[in-house]
Amino acid sequence: MVTAAPYEPKKKQIVDHLAPTAVDKTFNSKATAGEEGMISVRDMDFNYGAKRALHHIQMEIPSKQVTAFIGPSGCGKSTLLRCFNRINDRIQGAHIASGQVIIKGKNIYDKDVDTTSLRRQVGMVFQKYNPFPKSIYENVVYGLRISGVKKKADLNDACEYALKSAALWDECKDRLKQNAFGLSGGQMQRLCIARAIAVKPDILLMDEPCSALDPIATLKVEELILQLKEQFTVVIVTHNMQQARRVADLTAFMYLGELIEFADTLTIFSNPQQLKTEEYIRGQFS
Ligand SMILES: Nc1ncnc2c1ncn2[C@@H]1O[C@H](COP(=O)(O)OP(=O)(O)O)[C@@H](O)[C@H]1O
Ligand SMILES: [Mg+2]
Repeated sequence: MVTAAPYEPKKKQIVDHLAPTAVDKTFNSKATAGEEGMISVRDMDFNYGAKRALHHIQMEIPSKQVTAFIGPSGCGKSTLLRCFNRINDRIQGAHIASGQVIIKGKNIYDKDVDTTSLRRQVGMVFQKYNPFPKSIYENVVYGLRISGVKKKADLNDACEYALKSAALWDECKDRLKQNAFGLSGGQMQRLCIARAIAVKPDILLMDEPCSALDPIATLKVEELILQLKEQFTVVIVTHNMQQARRVADLTAFMYLGELIEFADTLTIFSNPQQLKTEEYIRGQFS
């Protein structure tokens, strides 16, 4: 297992690049995680057009832990996850109908929030790995390049850091210039994770990151998730209850757009407080 060394940017330029911009500053307010959690969802309703998809969601997602969302298909797991970096904004008619999502002390739905910097701080990995048709190296440093980092040494450092953090360095260090499409599916997904973490987000969102992977690649990604929580707050959607048990510190059970129960993973699976949760984890519906 590769354990990444703590990231120590040697060059000032990287530090500058990673330093908050004007918008990030509000964002990086010191009123952070603490008891309130890294992500604080306050009585949020969410709609697709006139259709309500999420009802009164209220939760505190803690920092540097893995939180899993489980529940039957169509219950709103992805919708809720996508509220945390406002990627739902891209869907016509999709909008938060009431409530707030507070990240590091700031309501990310305030008008002055810049969604580009938000998404730098709240990275995302999708179900189907989606590397760009570029080299492994260019995939990893993509976010830095579009932020204006030009110095080769800085890009190299960031690339090494991200690939090590994604447990991919040993497999890729001798082929950085090769096209990413030459990697296996599991490697491509870890490359997408490296790409997301190269810009050092606070939060990493993962929507069923293993559902396109074989069992061995799945276990590798799960192992990686356990390492990532040392540096990042991880929120993962999974339809696989065993996966939630293996990787998550906390588990949220959703049903028909509502958050039915949110507790530590052991409680959810061994002593759920809600009948609906119990029925679901016993496999009485799916
Ligand atoms: N782009 C969309 N437009 C309209 N409705 C959507 C869209 N995406 C999801 N929905 C609806 O929102 C609900 C929750 O979906 P989703 O968040 O994808 O659930 P899950 O991830 O738990 O399977 C479902 O009823 C789904 O049909
Ligand atoms: Mg989904």
